[in-house]
Amino acid sequence: MVIVRAEHLVKHYGNLCAVDNISFEIMKGECFGFLGPNGAGKTTAMGIIYCFMPPTAGTVAVFGLDVTKQPSVIKSRIGVMPQDDNLDPDLSVLQNLIVYARYFDIPKKIAVPRAWELLDFVELKDKAHVNIKSLSGGMKRRLLLGRALLNNPELLIMDEPTVGLDPHSRRSVWENLTHLKARDTTIILTTHYIEEAERICDRVAIMDNGKIIEADTPATLMARYGGNLEDVYLRLTGKRLREVIV
Ligand SMILES: Nc1ncnc2c1ncn2[C@@H]1O[C@H](COP(=O)(O)OP(=O)(O)OP(=O)(O)O)[C@@H](O)[C@H]1O
Ligand SMILES: [Mg+2]
Repeated sequence: MVIVRAEHLVKHYGNLCAVDNISFEIMKGECFGFLGPNGAGKTTAMGIIYCFMPPTAGTVAVFGLDVTKQPSVIKSRIGVMPQDDNLDPDLSVLQNLIVYARYFDIPKKIAVPRAWELLDFVELKDKAHVNIKSLSGGMKRRLLLGRALLNNPELLIMDEPTVGLDPHSRRSVWENLTHLKARDTTIILTTHYIEEAERICDRVAIMDNGKIIEADTPATLMARYGGNLEDVYLRLTGKRLREVIV
């Protein structure tokens, strides 16, 4: 089943063409990664999928629904972990989750136990009552992941989910994602880390200058271009993917 179908998607910011006529399909239960250098258009493409902004041209359907026509239905069924921290700095960790649950009309009776369950999932239970300002950068990333799961999303969209995480936290996010995949959650992510792409992604789209240069399984890309995924990426974009020690 196709979960996301983009056809001839274009996004302009004024004169700048950030996404330049891309088409792709993402299937149910798949983890699809966007790889590409800074400014390639990854966040922009994802922002259109999660109905944050409309395309300039082309169409995007999520669950078969047009992003410009049924954004509220789509948003109720997806979880988003943004690239930038948009947590409420005036609230505690737990309150952030409970307030966010209101956007999905989740009653407090359900939201509170769900929030604790997710804090356990992202290993932040001991921080439940501290203010957001007292969290480290990596803890904020983990909380953003927990928050994205509040509504049990069928599609999880994550913009650089493990940036700034220490090796233990990164591995634990990968484990979390593996569990979600096993439950048939469809995942879209962007990353600059080779290991993340190789371990988590079923298929990757290599983007540069607003275009998808190639989209396929890491194994197929490696067979087609030779070497490992980093070599493929270097060959296609002229830049290096980041290595992390895990
Ligand atoms: N709100 C905006 N207004 C104007 N230009 C923008 C805006 N957002 C992004 N851009 C431009 O669009 C292009 C694509 O940006 P985008 O954030 O999608 O890239 P990205 O692939 O996510 O990069 P990164 O790896 O740095 O996160 C860049 O040239 C960027 O400067
Ligand atoms: Mg980005």
